[in-house]
Amino acid sequence: MDNRPIGVLDSGLGGLTVLKKVIAKLPGESTVFIGDQANMPYGDRSKEEIIELTRSSVKFLLSKNVKTIIFGCNTATAAAMPTIQNEVDLQIIGVIQSGALDAAKKTKTKKVAVIGTTATTLSHAYRDEIHSRDSDIQVQEFAQPALAPLAEEDPDEDTKLKIVSQSLRPLKNGDFDTLVLGCTHYPLLLNEIQACISPDKCILDPADQVAQYTYNVLKRDNMLAEGPAKHEYYTTGNARKFTEIARQWMNDPELIAKHVQD
Ligand code: DGL
Repeated sequence: MDNRPIGVLDSGLGGLTVLKKVIAKLPGESTVFIGDQANMPYGDRSKEEIIELTRSSVKFLLSKNVKTIIFGCNTATAAAMPTIQNEVDLQIIGVIQSGALDAAKKTKTKKVAVIGTTATTLSHAYRDEIHSRDSDIQVQEFAQPALAPLAEEDPDEDTKLKIVSQSLRPLKNGDFDTLVLGCTHYPLLLNEIQACISPDKCILDPADQVAQYTYNVLKRDNMLAEGPAKHEYYTTGNARKFTEIARQWMNDPELIAKHVQD
């Protein structure tokens, strides 16, 4: 048994979509979340910048005595995970490995599309991870630089639908059966994405597999907690705005986020 919390990081609100599934799968676990909203979007930054920013969130989570860290951010997983895993003793869990595993299992036509940030797309991390499981799978990667900032801003429905449908136009009539949401902000736009993608496609959120994998790892290492669970939220951005959106998404009217210096 290990009652230390699980740390989860992201550039912003997107990591909450991972956190929510982790809490649902592991209700006895305490968590500490950090969203680096002051520096988002990570997806438009260089690899070196993403490593530096991610390292600083990792340092913050280590100061909270976490037992493991989930990179609830595809961009940080692609750019920074190999470097930072070498610098810390605890296990880091990324989202891309889980998303790739799930996509390779689910595709029947062996044609997968991945939408993500520019940095994730250019890294080809999804293509490489999927190919390490099955090199016959065709992987098409589409950069969607407008979508993570859109999810953060959370404007009215019409604006969201308009921007999502413009962004996803290149995927219209695309030859794939599985679409991977390769950015943790995208589940916040799931309704709009579903409205723009033909209903016969499977839309895959890697967070489901991340939650399962986290459970497997903690169980294997005898590190599951027994509760009572406590959840802490931090942002380098505007704590009031974060609290408002996070309360809705996490269905927790008591949730209060605190500001930390970036
Ligand atoms: N949520 C992050 C991801 O999964 C990225 C958003 C950003 O560009 O900061 O890639």
